[in-house]
Amino acid sequence: MEVAEKEILQNVILRKVGKYVIRRCTLEDLPDVIAINWAALPEHYSDSFFEDRLRESPETFLVAESEDGKIAGYIMCRVEYGFSHLRRYGLARKGHIVSVAVLEEHRRFGIGRALVEEAIKGLKQRGCSEVYLEVRVSNEPAIRLYKELDFQTSTVHHGYYRDGENAYLMSRSI
Ligand SMILES: CC(C)(COP(=O)(O)OP(=O)(O)OC[C@H]1O[C@@H](n2cnc3c(N)ncnc32)[C@H](O)[C@@H]1OP(=O)(O)O)[C@@H](O)C(=O)NCCC(=O)NCCS
Repeated sequence: MEVAEKEILQNVILRKVGKYVIRRCTLEDLPDVIAINWAALPEHYSDSFFEDRLRESPETFLVAESEDGKIAGYIMCRVEYGFSHLRRYGLARKGHIVSVAVLEEHRRFGIGRALVEEAIKGLKQRGCSEVYLEVRVSNEPAIRLYKELDFQTSTVHHGYYRDGENAYLMSRSI
């Protein structure tokens, strides 16, 4: 068995947040993660995309699990190499927060913040010096969360989403 596969099966617990635990996602969690993605966000991906992200970077694909064993939220990231969003010139190893969501009934308990914070720790372990994400300009709850976690708007992507809405590209160093 490959190392990454072992880590996926290890079910590593990172933090407790009230009655939830933040832990690494496992392959078994993916159907629940995909269901949350469909319930909470208009941007969806193929099953294999989720699986690839998990195999590639298990330290940055996390879930929140409630006391009764239900998955309440997830965060999925990707490690990339390319132009820095923080420095004018130069390349950087960047963490990309591809998708993060919490089921509506589990919101405002600190899960979103904990998922982003723990994913950032994982990205740092993977050698990233910065982290970025795209967010709809109308998504005030998420923008507020990211600003509280010291993300700053680097640029606006016009017509980034399929429905034509603009995105803020937000980033911070880690
Ligand atoms: C954005 C999201 C992940 C936040 O998850 P959450 O678990 O509710 O977030 P937290 O409880 O950790 O909130 C942290 C802070 O974010 C801000 N925030 C979160 N939801 C908010 C809301 N509805 N209105 C205003 N501020 C909000 C607050 O500052 C909050 O701190 P506080 O509760 O101490 O005031 C969640 O609302 C969600 O899943 N939304 C739909 C999917 C989505 O938009 N994902 C992001 C795409 S870029």
